[in-house]
Formats: sequence, C-alpha cells, structure tokens
Amino acid sequence: MNQFTSEIIEWYNHHKRNLPWRHTKDPYIIWISEIILQQTRVAQGYDYFVRFIERFPDIQSLASASEDEVLKYWQGLGYYSRARNLHAAAKSMNGKFPDKYEDVLALKGVGEYTAAAICSFAYHMPYAVLDGNVYRVLARYFNIPQPINTTAGHKLFATLAREMLYTPHPEIYNQAIMDFGALQCVPKSPSCNLCPLIESCGAYSSKLVDKLPVKLNKNKNRNRYFNYFMIRFNDSFVLRKRIADDIWKNLYELPLIETFAELSIDDLTQSNEFISMNAIFKAETDIVFCHQMKHILSHQTLFIKFYDIVLTEQLHMNEDFISVSINDTDLYAMPKPIEIFIEKIISSVV
Ligand code: ADE
Repeated sequence: MNQFTSEIIEWYNHHKRNLPWRHTKDPYIIWISEIILQQTRVAQGYDYFVRFIERFPDIQSLASASEDEVLKYWQGLGYYSRARNLHAAAKSMNGKFPDKYEDVLALKGVGEYTAAAICSFAYHMPYAVLDGNVYRVLARYFNIPQPINTTAGHKLFATLAREMLYTPHPEIYNQAIMDFGALQCVPKSPSCNLCPLIESCGAYSSKLVDKLPVKLNKNKNRNRYFNYFMIRFNDSFVLRKRIADDIWKNLYELPLIETFAELSIDDLTQSNEFISMNAIFKAETDIVFCHQMKHILSHQTLFIKFYDIVLTEQLHMNEDFISVSINDTDLYAMPKPIEIFIEKIISSVV
C-alpha cells in the first residue's frame, strides 16, 4: 500500500464517525444516504435520513408512495429534484436495486460520485469516490495546482484517486478519505499541526494549504483593469507578445500593466510595475492619458486605459519588447482593443 493510502486509513481507524448508513450493506439505504448528503452536511442530513428510512425502508415502500408524500419528507432539505429523482428511480427498479456499476450510474439523479459510493460501500467494488472533500485532500497532499473543475483537471484527479484506492477494501478507503476531508483537511483554516500527514503533505511544505484546491470561477464575470502604454519615438512604438496562458495568447499588444482596480495616473506611475518598465524605456517626459474603453469578453470585462509616452531618445529595447514602425502594424496580430486604438492614433496623426 502506498504511503498516502496507509496514512489515510490509519487516521480513519482512530477518527471514524459512527453513522447509521455505515452499519449496512443494503444498497437502497446507502443510496438514500448519499442522495441526502449530496448538497447537505451530515449534521443537517442525519435526522432527515432517519425519518425517511423509517417511512420508506425499502424500494417498494418508496416506489408505491405518492410524489407529494416523498417531497413532504424532503421539505426543508432543498434541491427538491433530488427527491423527485429518488422517487422516479425507485419506480424504475422493479423492486430490485441494480448490482452493476453501469446500471447504478444510469439511475436518475446518480452521477459518478454516487455510483462509486454505492458500489464500493454496498458491493465492495473498486471504484474511487471523487467529491469536494477528495479533491481537496488530493490537491493538497500532492500539491496539485491544476483547477479541479476543468476536463483536464477532472481526468487528472480521477486517475490519481483510482491509483490511491485500496482495492482489497475500497469501502474503507473511500469512507476514510471522505471523513479525512470532512473532519481534518477542512476547507478553511485546517489544523495542520494536528494532522498526522503533515510531514508528507506537499501543500503544507510549500505553504499552499489555503490556496489549494484551485477552482476556476466559471460563472462569475470577472473585471480586469488594463493600462496600456503607447511608447513612441518618431514613427516607432513598442509591442510585446502575450505568452501567458490567458486571453489573447501569442497576440501582440502594447506594454501592459494590469491592476486590481482602476488607478489614478499618479498611483499608476508610482507602482513597482511602472518603475521597472520605465527602467527600460527611461521616459523623462510626461505620461498622457489619451483614451479608455470597456471591452466585454465571454467571462470577463476589461476596463482599458491607454497612456501615451513620447520618448526624447531612441527606444531602449530588451528581448521582451519589439520596436515597430507605425507603417508595419499590419504585420502583427493584435487584440481588438489594441487594433482599434492604434487605428485611432494613426488616423489622428495622418
Ligand atoms: N458525505 C457524503 N457521503 C457520506 C458518507 N457516506 N459518510 C459521511 N459523509 C458523507
């Protein structure tokens, strides 16, 4: 057994919670518990589970109940589609809970996580669970910076989760890693000093515990503040290629300083970024604000300001920056706002 798996199981032996759905191998009971616990913490779901199982102790009792009654037992838990799916799935079973992973996965409301939980807890099948707790534990212990909510990130974590599974007893390992995430490796301010895995935890030794796991904010529109500098000498100006994995990768843009908020020209020119940029160009004349625009992308809104810097001496370049004649701008692929701005400059100069 690898070190991570044995440490997690060892921890579980001393800290496991005594929960009612852990004393059964009945897939129906385990299924109900997992659906209740999908968006609900154990402390909140516990009483609902007990009452639900008292009233609907098996597939038949649930399948023959009315949807109204099932919803009544769910009242207050939220996410009511869970209850409707439970009811519909119970009706679809013909009195027998499926015993193949694919058939469990095909039940209404059951995804990969729930199918792995049911199949490992009830049937001891070697499927590794991957939920929010598991992502967090793996991302931290193995110090993984990839976002968990991308296709590539999901694949990476799913592979790692499978590799860590203790196949002789998948049910123990899965419960262990879930409890470890729920009780020890908690999202906010975990007590790392009390953690038995502290010595081997990658995030702890890199001081990244509070940064991992990384989750991309996909829904929220992000505001970004771009300050571009048109640095000119005679008819040449400076461009730089964007190389980071970000918007506009490999396109050419004006020298940029991105800030967390909109800054005044004074705050901007006193920033460390500006001072190091100016160490290259050595502008001695005033910086003139000349244009601003708002540019909307699918998940971000850019607030862009343009500043003009006219140098009195030949441009000082380094390998990052290139000097381009205003007549050669067509040779460079540029983001739309830069293109618009340069067009504007050209037409005002000509
Ligand atoms: N959260 C989701 N499933 C769980 C389980 N089986 N035990 C404890 N917490 C859980």
